[in-house]
Amino acid sequence: MPGNNQNPDNSLTSRVPQHIAIIMDGNGRWAKQRNQPRFFGHKAGVEAVRGVVKACAARGIKVLTLFAFSSENWRRPQKEVSLLMELLYTALTREVSKLNDNNVRLRIIGDRSVFSEKLQNRLRKSEEQTENNTGLILVVAVNYGGRWDITQAARKAIEKVLAGELQASDITPALIGENLSLADLPEPDLFIRTGGEQRVSNFLLWQLAYTELFFTQTLWPDFSAASLDDAIESFSQRQRRFGRTGEQVENGEGA
Ligand code: IPE
Ligand code: IPE
Ligand code: MG
Repeated sequence: MPGNNQNPDNSLTSRVPQHIAIIMDGNGRWAKQRNQPRFFGHKAGVEAVRGVVKACAARGIKVLTLFAFSSENWRRPQKEVSLLMELLYTALTREVSKLNDNNVRLRIIGDRSVFSEKLQNRLRKSEEQTENNTGLILVVAVNYGGRWDITQAARKAIEKVLAGELQASDITPALIGENLSLADLPEPDLFIRTGGEQRVSNFLLWQLAYTELFFTQTLWPDFSAASLDDAIESFSQRQRRFGRTGEQVENGEGA
């Protein structure tokens, strides 16, 4: 099928998503409702992460990708940015043993080259300390942008052309896909955004091509295992057609 490099799952029995990707939004508003500084909401957001990771592991989800800091979040007040970096550092330091208890393997995506050496070391160590776990793969996107991801994949392809390893005509959607951050993992089946906004905010642009979208007003610190189940329930009601007709999908045709 030309131009179709997603991983189509034709079965109507696929009711549980393999890969869930979440934009964890609404921490600031959650704090504001409580007359607290925004950072109070970010801290509460870490608690919500802990609950959702556990719930995903318990439900046999294969991959959970969380948007923790976008390439645009540098535009925030410098104080908030540095507090978020500190929170990332302390959360990773503190949570690694719990990830190990739950057999969770951590992976970081995004351009980490701009982070302090201390944070870069922490990111690497946390990945190493969980690398033998065989359960849920937890992907945390930090200084990540979908445009950055596609650009770095294109750059790798172009470097191969310049080195004479590939022709320009070898650059296909499949080749770009192979060079993206999550190339070795199934594409997200279910995308969740909390906090009420209905936009993608430069998250996984390429990988979301055929993902089912779920938006909820719930602010991230309030997002619970029950909220997760609501999203999974909505997902389970949908028919994924990947361009085909409903009848073809029902009859298992045109795969
Ligand atoms: C999401 O919550 C967390 C990050 C972007 C780091 P926000 O901080 O965007 O919360 P709101 O949208 O201002 O409520
Ligand atoms: C998206 O949330 C990024 C993360 C949750 C990390 P934002 O709050 O930054 O998104 P916009 O700016 O409202 O689109
Ligand atoms: Mg926000």
